Amino acid sequence: VSNLLETRAEIDLSKVAHNFRTLHQLTPRGGFFCPMVKANAYGHGDVAVARALIAAGAQSLGVVRVDEAVRLRDAGIHVPILLFGIFPEEQTAQVISSSITPVASTLSQLQGLARAMQTPFDIHLKFNTGMNRLGFDIMDAPKVREFLDHHPGLKLKGICTHLAKGEDAGSPDGFSQQQFLAFEKALQSFKGLQFQKHVLNSAGIASLRGSPNKNQSAVPTEICGARPGIGIYGAQPLSSDKAQLDLLPVMALKSKLVLLRWLQAGETVSYGGTWRAGRASLIGTIPIGYADGLFRLLSNRAEVLCHGQRIPLVGTICMDYVMVDLSELDKNQVSVGDEVVLIGEQGREKILATEVAERIGTVSYEVMTAVSERVPRVFR
Ligand SMILES: Cc1ncc(COP(=O)(O)O)c(C=O)c1O
Repeated sequence: VSNLLETRAEIDLSKVAHNFRTLHQLTPRGGFFCPMVKANAYGHGDVAVARALIAAGAQSLGVVRVDEAVRLRDAGIHVPILLFGIFPEEQTAQVISSSITPVASTLSQLQGLARAMQTPFDIHLKFNTGMNRLGFDIMDAPKVREFLDHHPGLKLKGICTHLAKGEDAGSPDGFSQQQFLAFEKALQSFKGLQFQKHVLNSAGIASLRGSPNKNQSAVPTEICGARPGIGIYGAQPLSSDKAQLDLLPVMALKSKLVLLRWLQAGETVSYGGTWRAGRASLIGTIPIGYADGLFRLLSNRAEVLCHGQRIPLVGTICMDYVMVDLSELDKNQVSVGDEVVLIGEQGREKILATEVAERIGTVSYEVMTAVSERVPRVFR
């Protein structure tokens, strides 16, 4: 039993609150601010994170799937939950009965809601301004307005769009600027109505505040409502030094040595023998593998922390285990049960999700959301 339980994701909820405050302070006062807790709060545990965010002052939360929203409602979370995904028509009744706020992208979604609702019902709209994923086309804005005028039970609470290149939000000639202009065009069809406007992801927030070209006219502040995700979890949205925000990584992924073994020079480790000992080597086994979210692509390409030092993963990562070469450590110190940090801090060393991601050409989002269900989340 204990082997798998030795691997855990420690989630520091005080850092969620810290990151919430940092990002909130960077967005225009009074603007819409909706932290994203989709995908199990980017792998961190959605109910606990949602509660921490609400305690920190969050007044709404964002998810993508109906089951994500329902889980939050079942846990007693009462703030508005914005549902950013397109959901199947059969889930309309559930959306209404759970008071989930859909962010509609199609007229058929609005028609389904109008048919099913019995009392006035809050909605947001999304417009496509260049992401080309979800959202109404800008040219359909007058038609959408007309539909809402004919269905006064649908209460328009917000209109949003999503940036494809949030990293250039602060630049007057970036792609985001085109998206802002298209968004304002869509908004013209909704004159006379009172609603929130939200556009910025974490990169957009960081770019607007970190941009040397910061130009007040580039983005009208009244559309600068924000929906940060990755920044809430403590990863830097932008890599440039100037754009670093006061954010703290929330998740630490930890495990333990469960077995130690000496290999002679020439012996190999794991499937395919992709790592060979160049000398007598102390090899440790850790109970975490690709079924836990440790990408197999990291085989022979990543480091972990043990006794405050960086040590290499060696050999092919297995489904449930991976090995490390402990030869550089003081052998008299190393023993079964010693802590191994795959993401997080130990002593003076630190491994960020972003570092792990960069080793295999992906993003911190994928590293965080890959941490699988069987890894217990331990909340602090
Ligand atoms: C619609 C929408 N808004 C906001 C976000 C948050 O983005 P980020 O995690 O980059 O801050 C996402 C995530 O991809 C999203 O899909």
